[in-house]
Amino acid sequence: MKIKNYYLLLSTSLLAFGCSQQEVKFTPSHLEQYRPAYHFSPAKGWMNDPNGLVYVDGEYHLFFQHYPDSTVWGPMHWGHAVSKDLVHWEELPIALFPDSLGYIFSGSAVYDAENTSGLGSTETPPLVALFTYHDPKGEKGGALDFQTQGLAYSLDKGQTWQKYAGNPVLKNPGIRDFRDPKISQVSQADGKSTWVMTLAARDRVHFYESANLKEWTFLGEFGQGIGAHGGVWECPDLLSMKAPDGSQKWVLLVSMNPGGPQKGSATQYFIGDFKQGVFIPDDTMIRWLDYGPDNYAGVTWADLPKEQNRILWIGWMSNWDYAQVVPTTTWRSALTLPREISLFDVDGTLLLKSTPAKELEKARKEAYELSGEESLLPSPFVEISAEITQEDFSMTLNNELGEELVINKEMGLVTVDRRKAGKANFNRDFAAAHSAPMSWKAESVRIFLDASSIEVFVNDGELVLTSLLFPTSPWKKVTFIQGLDEVEILDLQESSNPSLEKN
Ligand code: FRU
Repeated sequence: MKIKNYYLLLSTSLLAFGCSQQEVKFTPSHLEQYRPAYHFSPAKGWMNDPNGLVYVDGEYHLFFQHYPDSTVWGPMHWGHAVSKDLVHWEELPIALFPDSLGYIFSGSAVYDAENTSGLGSTETPPLVALFTYHDPKGEKGGALDFQTQGLAYSLDKGQTWQKYAGNPVLKNPGIRDFRDPKISQVSQADGKSTWVMTLAARDRVHFYESANLKEWTFLGEFGQGIGAHGGVWECPDLLSMKAPDGSQKWVLLVSMNPGGPQKGSATQYFIGDFKQGVFIPDDTMIRWLDYGPDNYAGVTWADLPKEQNRILWIGWMSNWDYAQVVPTTTWRSALTLPREISLFDVDGTLLLKSTPAKELEKARKEAYELSGEESLLPSPFVEISAEITQEDFSMTLNNELGEELVINKEMGLVTVDRRKAGKANFNRDFAAAHSAPMSWKAESVRIFLDASSIEVFVNDGELVLTSLLFPTSPWKKVTFIQGLDEVEILDLQESSNPSLEKN
């Protein structure tokens, strides 16, 4: 087996391999065994969906569903973090607190550069967030209209937020699940642009239009008789994308819970055309963004600089089936890696590819030379990449307690098998093998391993599986059983989470 990029001296490697488990220090002490090193997680308390993703003045803003007072879901706030490089995140004070209209559920934010909302000025354009108000009293009382859409704005680039006095900006027409507004700026035939809100309504998507982000007009509905309907549709996102042949396509991301391909939560997507509030899919195929069990409610960043020429996305790395009982201590949940999503073509069928954001290369610390078919890992936080040389491949990760994680491709299925990968007694379905069909050629695999997760990207993201893992002790050894060559192991320990004390 050939190993790429040997740029460490043997003595350094031996030192790294000699690391005992105790030398990986967590803060506070070992309580934070599962704290990710390079994925965003809140310092404390509960987190679910990413919200209000917006880029302003060199900073990626990330808001998130947050309950700071507990490690289980509760009255929702919008937590807030920023990053300049998508690797190092700084958590900021909470941006939005629940109020008399309800909890602050998921939503999005845009930079209103032309002050169409009138909430700022041309010199100080506002950031405008649209979110769902969830009124717990209305819900308990049996009302149907307890979810409405609210607006908040910021005149200091997201540092502080004011709720709009005229909330809610969109009332509920009597639909129990009516939430998660995602705002897109859509160009029209006359060259002007309009704001479009994509909203989840039971197991449909509703489109609304506005000139000022405050008054919304219903345009149309999508979803009847198409796609997966095993659960409620949530957190939609409408995207204009280029197909490989240069044609313009519209992509609609729709998360759904339950009913995912691995049980519980998952995100499906549709590819087609969008005009005046009507989304026309190209076909009736059901497509999933990620075939792992732990990727939900992902949406894209607004207002990336044009020259980035990419669509940047991030998801919640968990599943409602067990998110509230996973064995972390002071916090619960992390987000996936930020990913660049794009369309690719397999024998005439368009699919979405999710590639780890290129900034993640900055998290790389060292590359390790490994001889033979198996090797110790330099740390529990690594990226492993390899060329796939045969139809089937297989690799396993092990720790000192004999726990095992298997990643393989066999009979056209790529599988991440976490049946023996550590703690699983908190949910009866957690210890499972999760497979995804891959009918086209698998040429490369990139794996990101963090303290409590694995993300497997085949062909740089043409097929993705994201899984949580709770090994009782950190992964120590990797064995390449068949079908892989040009293996590179990159230590990502030098990375982002300030709560993780480095060696
Ligand atoms: C998705 C979701 C959203 C909702 C939020 C509440 O995970 O259920 O539909 O706005 O979480 O926290």
